[in-house]
Order: sequence, then structure tokens, then C-alpha cells
Amino acid sequence: MTYLLGLRMDGRDVLVVGGGRVAQRRVPVLLDAGARVTLVSPDAAAALEDLADSGRLAWHRRRYAEGDLGLAGFWLVHVATDDPAVNAAVAADAEAARLWCVRADDRHESSAWTPASGIAAGATIGVVAGGDPRRAAGLRDAIVDGLADGSLDARRGRERMSGVALVGGGPGDPGLITVRGRQLLAQADVVVVDRLAPTSLLDQLPADVEIVDAAKIPYGRSMTQEDINRVLVDRAREGKFVVRLKGGDSFLFGRGGEEAAACAAAGIPVVAVPGVTSALAAPAAAGIPVTHRGVSQDVHIVSAHVAPSSERSTVDWAALAASEGTIVALMGVERLAAIADTLMSHGRSPDTPMAVVQDATLPTQRAVTATLGTAARTAADAGIRPPAVIVIGEVVNEARELDILHGGRDDPAAPAAAGAGDAADNEPVEGDRVL
Ligand SMILES: C[S@@+](CC[C@H](N)C(=O)[O-])C[C@H]1O[C@@H](n2cnc3c(N)ncnc32)[C@H](O)[C@@H]1O
Repeated sequence: MTYLLGLRMDGRDVLVVGGGRVAQRRVPVLLDAGARVTLVSPDAAAALEDLADSGRLAWHRRRYAEGDLGLAGFWLVHVATDDPAVNAAVAADAEAARLWCVRADDRHESSAWTPASGIAAGATIGVVAGGDPRRAAGLRDAIVDGLADGSLDARRGRERMSGVALVGGGPGDPGLITVRGRQLLAQADVVVVDRLAPTSLLDQLPADVEIVDAAKIPYGRSMTQEDINRVLVDRAREGKFVVRLKGGDSFLFGRGGEEAAACAAAGIPVVAVPGVTSALAAPAAAGIPVTHRGVSQDVHIVSAHVAPSSERSTVDWAALAASEGTIVALMGVERLAAIADTLMSHGRSPDTPMAVVQDATLPTQRAVTATLGTAARTAADAGIRPPAVIVIGEVVNEARELDILHGGRDDPAAPAAAGAGDAADNEPVEGDRVL
């Protein structure tokens, strides 16, 4: 049987013997917990060397020697060398000194095990499964995933959150929201959601979470920005934790600034969680690098929600035409012909490649490529509809068939957690996981 403790390491000394893969994984976690780490090892992995060079750990470049437990007032010892005799000697010295020793090569001879651990819903979760590291990691993943996707109710027993979180939900694939965004979503009392947000995530929320669909209110119109601001403020004033879930990044053509200002003016605490914007995700998902060495050093992201000739347009299309850089235009599918004509009339070549990517990162994603001269006809023939991102510039020619990328996104064989199955590490640690 084991007795699980949460060690508060802040300012306490830890000895790590051995500078290989196991130490490379554990030392950063110890440092993050505030421990002072002393490393004893003739060699060390590059990442550990960097930590030593930057003064974050003390490194003695030599083999372990008797008496090393007296180098500092250690509270804990980790030993993970490739020499079982050294590991045994360190463990024996620690035992004699009544120090807990985590021995990586032999869990049966280890006085302490590190649990498979993870962070979710603002809590640290540790699992020890009777010395079976794979089972521990599997259980840890189930708990962390359950808390993240809401199938375990993260709000039970939690310290209540309040205020408003403006969460950028990414371009649509539910896997492309950030870890922080997903954590906050799992703790929401109210979610105010847009049409382009990853709405499939809402299914996983507990039934009592109020979902306010900003794209749909009675009488068939969308909520005005004022309506949305009012809901955010009113619900937060009722003491509820409100997540404003948007597509892409809230602060790129997302009116996140207005929502943040409305909350601030009402004295409501507000936090912004950045998201993966469609302006970059859509080209990437179609295999188009928006910058490319020797091709494009600049990328211009513009809104084309009004035509270039409109008085309401503040975009300098002439300057964009003069630039050799990449142009990424959002909200412009219906104005594709006007955009292409404007750029050509200001001197950009009709042969300039372009692409339109619709429903980027979603199962319905499709892309067409053309040139400025043929763009409007091609997109119309292909029936391209919003939401779509227009990419203009030589980088379009760099697009690759990204079957690998698409496979990777949905690949059920992709490893669930980094560090799982580290054969050299027999002690039940499966790496830390943050979700
Ligand atoms: C109001 S803007 C919001 C942009 C968002 N804040 C972002 O950072 O992606 C809406 C436009 O984003 C683009 N867009 C959003 N999601 C998209 C997707 N999955 N595929 C293609 N375009 C998308 C389209 O140009 C759409 O008209």
C-alpha cells in the first residue's frame, strides 16, 4: 500500500543523481514546484545543461560519491543513472539517512513512487496504481480528459469562479481550442457562444450549464453586440462564471475588445484566453505557409467585410497590391471579384496565386486555388461559401498535399500522453500531463 502525499517543495532541496532522460523529465517539474535541485552526474541531457547554465540548478559534473547526501539539506532524492549498482548505493544511503528516495530503475527497491500526474480544473491529480505505471497513466488520462471535457463535473467542490472569460475557441475543430480555454469551459455556469465557435464541445457540458446562442434569439435575428455585452455583465453580476466562446481568436475581428471593455466598465473581472485564429489556421490546414523563406517575409491580415471601394473600408488596398507579401482576407468570399480587381488595378499581377479555404479544420474543409485573374470564376464554379479565408501570394504555390496533417488530426493511434511507455523507467511515473 502507498500513502499519497502532496509535497510542498517550495525552497526545499532535492538531489537528483543521473542526468539522462528520466532526470530530463523530472527536473523541470521539480523546479516548477519551487524545489532547489542539485544534480550529480558526469553528463547531462542538453535541456539539463541549459538549466544549469542559466543557474536554475546546481550541477556537480561527476559520478555519485559517498557523502553526497550531505551536499545540502536534502528532503528528497531521485536516482536515475544507467548503473544499477550506483542506483542501489544511492537508495541505500538515502534509506540510512531516512530520506525518501525515488529509484527509477527498480520500483520494488524504491521507497517512494511518483504518481502519474496531471493538472486539470486547477487541481493536481496524482494516480498510483499498485506499481503499474501504464494503468496509472490510463486512469490519470481518464480523469484529466473527463474534467477537461465536462464528463466529470469539474464544478463539484470547486472554489467558485466568477467574472467573464473571453475564450478564443480556435477555427472549428474541437481539438484546436487551447488547454486553458477548455479548462475554463468545463467550469462555466453560462456559455455565450458564436456560430463559428467549436460548438461540438457544448455537448459535453453538464446539463445545468446555460447556453446562450448569440447567433440565435427569438424573432430570427442575431443578438446585437449590446445584447451580448448585457448578458455577459448581467450573468456575471448574478455571481455566475461566464465563458464567452468565440471562433478563432476573440481579439481578431472578434469584438473581444468591446466585450472586455463592457465588462471592465461594469466592474466585472474579465480574462482573455487567446485562440488559434482562422487567419493562420485556414492556410495552414490547406498546407499553405503564410511566410516562407525566400518567398514571403510579411503577412497582412485584413477584413474584407466591406468592399474595397466602400467608404467604410479603411484597408489600404493600393499598399497591399504594392507589397510582395502574403495577404489573408477574412469575411471576403462575396467580395472576391472586387478584391482581385482592386489588387490588379493597383498593379499586382493577374498571375498572383491565391487560394480560398472554406470550413477550415472541419470535416467539410475544402480549398480551391486560382490566380487573381481567375479567382472569382473559380470560387463561384466551386460553390465556395462562407466561412472561408482568402490567401493571396506566392506562398500558395508552396502548398503541399497535407494528407499527413489531416491524418494526424484524427489519428486514433496518436499517443495520448507524451512520456507514456518509457521502457527504461520502471518506476511508476508516466510523465506529467497538463490539461
Ligand atoms: C467575424 S470573423 C471572426 C474571425 C475569428 N475571430 C478568428 O480569429 O478566426 C469571421 C470570419 O473568419 C473566417 N473564418 C472563421 N472560421 C473559419 C473556418 N473554420 N474556415 C474558414 N474561415 C473561417 C471567415 O473569413 C469568416 O468570415
